[in-house]
This record gives sequence, structure tokens and C-alpha cells, in this order.
Amino acid sequence: MRLDILALAVVLAPAALAQGDAARGEAIAHNRSQGLCVLCHALPGQNPALQGSIGPPLAGVGSRLDADGLRQRLVAPERFNPDTVMPSYSRSSGLHQVATAHRGKPLLTDAQIDDLVAWMGGLR
Ligand code: HEC
Repeated sequence: MRLDILALAVVLAPAALAQGDAARGEAIAHNRSQGLCVLCHALPGQNPALQGSIGPPLAGVGSRLDADGLRQRLVAPERFNPDTVMPSYSRSSGLHQVATAHRGKPLLTDAQIDDLVAWMGGLR
């Protein structure tokens, strides 16, 4: 009985402990060839003239949305706006005009999405 519980804890622990790294998330958000967030969003502390304004500024987003809400924005943005221009960062199919090197791959890995959620959660 005890052993069963222990085994379960060992199996569940990595998933439960999977936590993003806010510093890595910030780097992804600022990266103009990876996250591309700056194409559409103003990030806090940056020159607004050099950033996008198609989406809302991300300053304070951590107090507007909880971790699950932030993750949903990245994984399935069309849930909030069916006509959204924001891409899903976890989907690898149903995308259009994808460069050969990126076909069949999501824009970001699950770990990178965890990092972005951790970073945005701290934007209060
Ligand atoms: C092509 C433009 C585009 C890109 C690239 C983009 N977004 Fe967005 N995003 C939007 C738009 C537009 C909205 C507003 C809601 C909607 O219409 O989908 C939005 C909404 C959001 C929201 C909800 C904000 C709120 O206050 O409700 C979050 C969080 C977000 N984006 C994070 C990101 C992150 C992080 C990245 C980079 C990994 C990113 N977005 C990349 C266009 C974009």
C-alpha cells in the first residue's frame, strides 16, 4: 500500500514540478526570430516605438490572467477571438504557408510555453 503511493508520487512528481523559468520566458518573448511576441505586443520596459500594437501591451497581464488563462492564450488563442491573428504556439497542423524547415513542428515546445507563462505571471 505504502509502496503504491510512493510509486504514484514518483510518476506524478515530474509533471507536478514542471515549472517554467521566467528569465528564459522573457528571452523568448524578446527574441525576434523565435517568440515574435514583440511583433504584436509591447513588452514592459521596452521602447514602445519599436514594438507592435496589434495586440494589447503585456504589462500587467499577470494580474489580469492566471497561469491557466495565460497558457490558453498561447495554446489556443482562437478560443478568445475566432478571427485572431495570434498564432497557436503549440499546434503543428492546420497552419498555412509554413517554411519547409518548420513544417510539422509547433512554434514553441511545451517547456518554452511553461517559461513564457512563468514570465507573464510575474508581469503585475
Ligand atoms: C501576429 C500577432 C501576435 C503575435 C505574434 C502574438 N500575439 Fe498575443 N495577441 C495578439 C492579439 C491581436 C491579441 C488580442 C486578442 C486576440 O485578438 O486574439 C493577443 C492577446 C494576447 C494575450 C492576452 C492579453 C490580454 O491582456 O488579454 C496574451 C497573454 C498574449 N497575447 C501573449 C503573447 C505572447 C507571449 C506572444 C509571443 C509568444 C504573443 N502573444 C504573440 C496578437 C499576437
